[in-house]
Amino acid sequence: MSYSRIVGTGSYLPARIMTNAELEARVDTSDSWIRDRTGIAERRIAADGECCSDLAIAAARDALDMAGMDPTDIDLVLVATCTPDHVFPSTACSVQRELGMREGTIAFDISAACSGFVYGLDVANRFLITGGAKRALVIGAETFSRIIDWNDRSTCVLFGDGAGAVVLELGEQPGILSTHLHADGQYKDLLKVDWGVGQGYEQLTAESGTVSMRGNEVFKVAVRTLGRIVDETLAANRLSKADVDWLVPHQANIRIIQATARKLGLPMERVVQTVQEHGNTSAASIPLALDTAVRDGRIRPGDLLLLEAFGGGFTWGSALIRY
Ligand code: UT7
Repeated sequence: MSYSRIVGTGSYLPARIMTNAELEARVDTSDSWIRDRTGIAERRIAADGECCSDLAIAAARDALDMAGMDPTDIDLVLVATCTPDHVFPSTACSVQRELGMREGTIAFDISAACSGFVYGLDVANRFLITGGAKRALVIGAETFSRIIDWNDRSTCVLFGDGAGAVVLELGEQPGILSTHLHADGQYKDLLKVDWGVGQGYEQLTAESGTVSMRGNEVFKVAVRTLGRIVDETLAANRLSKADVDWLVPHQANIRIIQATARKLGLPMERVVQTVQEHGNTSAASIPLALDTAVRDGRIRPGDLLLLEAFGGGFTWGSALIRY
């Protein structure tokens, strides 16, 4: 039996750090409210002119470097993002071009909001195990600072910019054991950017072009849904909670992460937490967290990883991976 295996991880964070103190000066908020309610202390903000593809390319180079591969070794590039450089061409095509990948490499973007990276892993895994590709680059990259209303305290304190990437290769050793994806569009109004091409440019305003969220309602559905997907993932693999070595969750809110860890009976020392320094980087948050824990030596070969995400749509998903 063949598996998709993670053979390289990488990440990139813009240089500029925005602290909670800076946000206190902009809107009616406080460092203590942000830390208590979300766990966030700071986030990164892309420089003027720094685009989603710039972040994605830097993370991809990092992951290829760890994998010891050249960009020409890759035959599938997926970029999970809801802040692409352009409507089209896709950000994945920009990554393909800028990295000098082979002509004919498959490249496309995935739009599943904060669940985008897990969706990307699922799609890439299916390509690999069915013979559609041999080596894939899956990237989560976001420039959420561009779609934030910086006068809205209920959202501007939450998000940040960044990118993470993994290189997947087909192998005989266990790697991705299962992926589980779901969506429910009936919740579309709880978390959204209201403007799109369908509305026409004359409809674009500061409010419609930025993130709006009914945070408390999203919070409750997220906790409930992520609890369910933990059960679904373990049952599909006939494994128990005690088998999981690391939870690598989407980093939206430390309280949501704690609730999932409690559900798993995992101490917080076995949970990769980057929300404090990164904020919510949407599709980038899981690969950023994964790369952090791989590079600092916490995640070791053979460890069992549970990745889970929840986001706008609603979309949600998980991946169980033998690293
Ligand atoms: O990544 C995709 C999925 N996203 C999520 O999973 C996010 C889910 N939601 C959350 O993480 C939380 O709901 C938030 C962090 C967004 C909000 O925390 P909360 O504990 O649910 O607060 P709340 O929305 O119920 O608001 C409580 C109070 C309100 O004031 P009143 O009505 O009680 O007077 C808000 O106006 O906190 C107020 N508030 C703030 N106060 C200071 C809201 N934002 C702020 C702020 N600073 N930045």
